[in-house]
Amino acid sequence: EKQGFKHFMLKEIYEQPGVVRASLDAYFNPGTDESPINLGIPGEFYANLEQIQIVACGTSWHAALIGKYLLEQLAQIPTQVQYSSEFRYAPSPLTPNTLTIGVTQSGETADTLAALAMEKERRQGRDSRYQARLLGITNRPESSLGHLVPHIINTLAGIEIGVAATKTFVAQLMAFYALALDLSSRRQTLSPERLEEIINGLRLIPKEIEATIDIQDKLTEHLAHDFAETQDVIFLGRGINFPIALEGALKLKEISYIHAEGYPAGEMKHGPIALLDAKVPVVAIAVPGSVYEKVISNSQEAKARDSRLIGVTPITDGEAGEIFQDLLTVANVDELLSPILTVIPLQLLSYHIAARRGLDVDQPRNLAKSVTVE
Ligand code: F6R
Repeated sequence: EKQGFKHFMLKEIYEQPGVVRASLDAYFNPGTDESPINLGIPGEFYANLEQIQIVACGTSWHAALIGKYLLEQLAQIPTQVQYSSEFRYAPSPLTPNTLTIGVTQSGETADTLAALAMEKERRQGRDSRYQARLLGITNRPESSLGHLVPHIINTLAGIEIGVAATKTFVAQLMAFYALALDLSSRRQTLSPERLEEIINGLRLIPKEIEATIDIQDKLTEHLAHDFAETQDVIFLGRGINFPIALEGALKLKEISYIHAEGYPAGEMKHGPIALLDAKVPVVAIAVPGSVYEKVISNSQEAKARDSRLIGVTPITDGEAGEIFQDLLTVANVDELLSPILTVIPLQLLSYHIAARRGLDVDQPRNLAKSVTVE
């Protein structure tokens, strides 16, 4: 059932354009007067929202960080993201009109279920402003999560077999685009033109992912040769691509067992830059928009410490062309949409590094697809 792919992980990376297409078809269709997005969530559920809190673990937590960016920047709703395992033991003070979202691909992650159950319980019997409003984002609507919360955004990745999450992550991002845009339309925080521009941009993403995989599969396979002796890798990003730096590092750790850290590029000089030398490659995500120049200048600082610099960027000339030794190019899209493309070369790079090391990519040591212990 690997359909000619050596591992499920690679097959699932290749399935991502289809996952985005399925999500567009499901969420961005008929719509209503209030919103061109259809998530099957009644408008009252969102009424008077003042705050959003999101709980999740691992890759789902990275998707949640991008979700926060979208919910704040597009829908203008203050949003916080917590690790489920931290939130459980130190929940934020109760705030009124708060939506709590649990993100879990499997729908069975013990800490995420417990965090949501706790939220439900501590809001029980409170006046209406403080009542729990729980929403789940999951790839398994029939899971325990499905029983715990009244509303679900069903992500449309299909079953994922590789332990390292790839297509379920992209599906979670699509759920957050849809949710943030649904809230933006209902609250009228975006002009109709901007809303349309973003939706049109999303419609082009499947083709752009295809093109990215087309080019990057071979390039990253080739680049993986140079990682035979590598022991540490740093991933840098800023803004909406900071969570992608975290995700790139997590993928590499999980399946190749190489130590990796994702860092917001501007924080390097506050400590981690001490780690850099010629043996520590740096992968920087540099897309045009609010922080492009900043990421380039942070990359320059890394280069001055002799690190090999790999750029994930749509820009191949100018400064980017000069400072990056290797370019993993992606299409030039709206900065808000860029994470769904920049993650692709990082998934492929981790995959090829691990596969070249002869590791069990689909079943990495010490990890399980569904973490039902606390
Ligand atoms: C990453 C990975 C884990 C999961 C985490 C949460 O590749 O597989 O970090 O993302 O265990 O799992 P779910 O989303 O099922 O709650």
